[in-house]
Amino acid sequence: MKELNNKNCFLTGAASGIGRSFALALAKEGINLFITDINMEGLVKVKEEVEALGVKVIAEKCDVSKFEDFDRCAKQFHSKLGDVDLLINNAGIARGVLLENINLDDWKKVIDVNLWSIIYSLKAFIPKMLERGSGHIVNVASAAGILGSPEPLSYMASKFGVVGISEGLYGQISRFGIKVSVIIPLYIKTNIFFSGEEAKYPKKLVDGIGEEKLQEISQSMLEEMYDKAKSPDSVVKKYIAQIKKDQLYIYDSKGLLSVLAMKGANPKQYEEFLVKLNRDFRTSREAHFSKFGINLDDYL
Ligand SMILES: NC(=O)c1ccc[n+]([C@@H]2O[C@H](COP(=O)([O-])OP(=O)(O)OC[C@H]3O[C@@H](n4cnc5c(N)ncnc54)[C@H](O)[C@@H]3O)[C@@H](O)[C@H]2O)c1
Repeated sequence: MKELNNKNCFLTGAASGIGRSFALALAKEGINLFITDINMEGLVKVKEEVEALGVKVIAEKCDVSKFEDFDRCAKQFHSKLGDVDLLINNAGIARGVLLENINLDDWKKVIDVNLWSIIYSLKAFIPKMLERGSGHIVNVASAAGILGSPEPLSYMASKFGVVGISEGLYGQISRFGIKVSVIIPLYIKTNIFFSGEEAKYPKKLVDGIGEEKLQEISQSMLEEMYDKAKSPDSVVKKYIAQIKKDQLYIYDSKGLLSVLAMKGANPKQYEEFLVKLNRDFRTSREAHFSKFGINLDDYL
C-alpha cells in the first residue's frame, strides 16, 4: 500500500505505546482512523491528538478478547468510514510468571487477548475485504514469536501463533489482492513493561525477603530494561515505511536476523543459543538482586 492519504484504518490497542504512535503517524499521512482500546481515558486523549491533525477519527471501546466487540466495531466502521484499507491488530498484553508458578488463568488471559484477538478480527473484517479484493492486514507479534526466549511461555505461545497465522494468511490470501504484514518488535519503550501482573516469586524467597522488597527489585529491573528500549515513535516510522512496501516480515532490530539464520543453518548452535539466552537472563537477574545485597542462590 504505497499511498495512505484518504485511506481508512482500524487499529486496536491505540490508547498507549505502539498503538498510540501508529495512530499519530498514520494521521500525519492523512489516513482516517477508527481507534479502539479498553482504556477509554487514554483513547480519548489519543483521539484529541489525532483530531488536531485534521483526519476523521472515531474512538470506540473494543475488548479484543471478545468477538462481539469486534463485530460491533466492524459494523460501525463499515457504516461510518466505508472499506477497511488497513487493519492493524496491535493490542496485546505480557503477563505470566516463572515456570514454577504456572497459572492457568494467566495462560487463558494471554491467549485470549493476544491470539484469539487476531482470529476474531479476521472473522469480523475478512469477508468484506475478500468481496472487495483489497486491504492490508498488519499483526503485531514479537521477537518472542519467532525465537525461544526467557519470556513467559504463554506470551511466546500466543506470539508464535500470531506469526503462524500471518505467514499462512500471506500465502493463502495474496491471490485475492490482500496484503499481510507481521511486525516483530523487540524492546520498545511502552507501558507493557509495567502493566503486566506483578512478578510472583517462590515462597522461600518471598518469606525470606518480603513481598514489598521483591516488588521494589522487580520494578527496578523493569526500569533498567525500559531505559534501554527504543522509542515507539521512531520504530513506528520504520514500520509504516515497510507496510508501504507490502513487506511480510517487519523488524526493528537487525540483530534478530542473524539468530534466525542460525536457527535454519545451524540447529546445534541454535540449541546452545536458547540455553545461553536463559542462562544470561538468570545471571543478570542474580546480578540485579546482588545489588540489593541478596544472593538468590540462598533462596531458590
Ligand atoms: N513494547 C515492547 O517491547 C513490545 C515487544 C514485542 C511486542 N510488543 C507488542 O506490541 C503490541 C503493543 O504493545 P505496547 O508495547 O504498545 O504496550 P502498551 O501496554 O503500551 O499498549 C497496549 C495497549 O493494548 C491495550 N489492551 C490491553 N488489553 C486489551 C484488550 N483486552 N482489548 C483491547 N485493548 C487492550 C492496552 O490498554 C494498551 O493501550 C502488543 O501486541 C505487544 O505484545 C511490544
